[in-house]
Amino acid sequence: MGRNDNSGRPFNSAASFRVTDPPNPNWQLRQGLPDDVEPGKSWKAEEEKGWKTWDLSDISPREVYPLLTSCIVPRPIALVSSMSSDGIPNLAPFRGVFSVAHNPPLLSISFSHAVRTGKSKDTKENILATKEFTVSIMSEPFIEAANITCVDAPADIDEWDISGLTRSTSIDVRSPWVKESAIGFECELFHSYEICLPNSSEVTNTLVLGLIKRAHVRESVLTASGTVDPAKLRAVSRLGGDMYARIGEGFELARPPWKVIRDQVISGAPESE
Ligand SMILES: Cc1cc2nc3c(=O)[nH]c(=O)nc-3n(C[C@H](O)[C@H](O)[C@H](O)COP(=O)(O)O)c2cc1C
Repeated sequence: MGRNDNSGRPFNSAASFRVTDPPNPNWQLRQGLPDDVEPGKSWKAEEEKGWKTWDLSDISPREVYPLLTSCIVPRPIALVSSMSSDGIPNLAPFRGVFSVAHNPPLLSISFSHAVRTGKSKDTKENILATKEFTVSIMSEPFIEAANITCVDAPADIDEWDISGLTRSTSIDVRSPWVKESAIGFECELFHSYEICLPNSSEVTNTLVLGLIKRAHVRESVLTASGTVDPAKLRAVSRLGGDMYARIGEGFELARPPWKVIRDQVISGAPESE
């Protein structure tokens, strides 16, 4: 269906998440960028090719969009399910569904308004009207169904129907969450913030903070310690353009406590004059 289908680059369904060493396991304090370990893949040599710099107030929003969406990656994405005051259901994908705080448990979603018409997203209108919604994390197995819900269909068209995704009844809110998702959050509107152009009252975006009232997590993606296993979740994120990313590998880097590195930092510090 999409322009990228059957490109001769078949999806690698065998790939799975694996944990490796970090890129520079022997990194030392004050080392900065280590010398290249892989010849021909020199991060430093790339830097020496120079910089291109933009003054963002000089370029149009049309140019800012592809620049920022390809710079700030990967962006978490999720399906947001909401309902109008008349009970019309809505389902759409949104990026930048960030975990803002855990106490209280808050997530954020940013809704853009159409540049020319100023029309805002149905999901945003629903959330502001009903003060509730659900968020379902997107995983590889149902990404096509999730993606189709971004279609700019009229408000009375049900994206649940188009996608073939299944409603799972929520406990605390009216909007269902997506049964195919391994994770569903039931949320209440906590705060909304209208974003205007500098020195203008023109609203271009609305930032919504949602209070997570209830979390549903599939038993099968949970580890023994009660966290979610990334290998089983197979979460998808957003890159620039229409590109999605998979999570194929991870590595751990401990957060060093000051007391562990203190002596090394102080003994290695340059002497003061
Ligand atoms: C992966 C993905 C991420 C998206 N993220 C956003 C977003 O963060 N903010 C936004 O306003 N629209 C975003 N969109 C576009 C909306 O999904 C699209 O405009 C949709 O039609 C909105 O539906 P609604 O008007 O029913 O709420 C995204 C689309 C995709 C495919």
